[in-house]
Amino acid sequence: MNGLAGKTAVVTGAGSGIGRASAHRFAAEGANVVVADIDVENGRETAARIENAGGNATFVKVDVSDLESVRRMVSVAVDTYGSLDVAHNNAGILTDFVETTGIAEEQWDRIVDVNMKGIWACMKAELPVMKRQGHGAIVNTASMSGLVGMPGLSSYSASKHGVVGLTKSVALEYADAGIRVNAIAPGPTKTNIQSSMLGDSGGASVLDPIRRVVSAIRFLLRQWRADFDTSAMRDVPMDRIADPEEMAGVVAFLCSSDASYVTGHTIPVDGGQAAD
Ligand SMILES: NC(=O)c1ccc[n+]([C@@H]2O[C@H](COP(=O)([O-])OP(=O)(O)OC[C@H]3O[C@@H](n4cnc5c(N)ncnc54)[C@H](O)[C@@H]3O)[C@@H](O)[C@H]2O)c1
Repeated sequence: MNGLAGKTAVVTGAGSGIGRASAHRFAAEGANVVVADIDVENGRETAARIENAGGNATFVKVDVSDLESVRRMVSVAVDTYGSLDVAHNNAGILTDFVETTGIAEEQWDRIVDVNMKGIWACMKAELPVMKRQGHGAIVNTASMSGLVGMPGLSSYSASKHGVVGLTKSVALEYADAGIRVNAIAPGPTKTNIQSSMLGDSGGASVLDPIRRVVSAIRFLLRQWRADFDTSAMRDVPMDRIADPEEMAGVVAFLCSSDASYVTGHTIPVDGGQAAD
């Protein structure tokens, strides 16, 4: 990709799934990568894998729903590598399938805090640095649920629609400042996000593999028993779910100089779902 070598990239949620894949991709393109995640063990593992492959990476623990924590993450990037050129604001959590009236207040607050406020907090901390530099490229991770309604996932869908709106608005605010802001809307992707359905997005534990299996079973049972049509999660025209690397390729493109005239857009990366 043009223009990524030697740049500094921050990736949130880089301990797993799409964030881990994009951290690897940025490193492969020659960028220095700040691997940020609330999960220390997984985040450190991503950074170690990048270093073992010959890249440059630094892990920093972050909770994206906490502005002070996000500010520290940005400081680590600038203090370690001298700039912040590229940011993939990606950390997110999913909920159980539940009708809107059944959503507990604290569940609503957590989803919105991580998925929407977290994107705002990242951009609030990143944009002043990029503005001083006179350049920057940001990609936020939205979702197909940010483009269409998802019965049973209304809090998640609302938070992701918020990411799309934030992306458009901030892109317009900074379009003449040399900073581009876009988003991706992934379709179903092979990652661990189901584990967050247990309400545990925090610290890694020896029980994690068991939790993930239990979580996957609960996820499948809920879909089977759900009163909602969850077929949108399965009905992909390309007839398969994505690998995280297929998200990372589009993120890298949007952050590269090949996308120098692209800002304010949310790109569906969905095997054709949005066209159906
Ligand atoms: N996997 C899919 O099918 C899919 C589809 C559409 C959108 N997405 C979005 O992609 C993004 C990445 O998810 P994924 O699928 O790779 O899931 P994942 O669970 O594999 O990765 C998410 C990462 O975010 C981290 N995280 C969670 N809460 C955090 C917080 N408060 N602060 C910092 N880090 C936190 C987790 O520790 C984890 O490492 C999310 O925003 C998700 O909503 C995923």
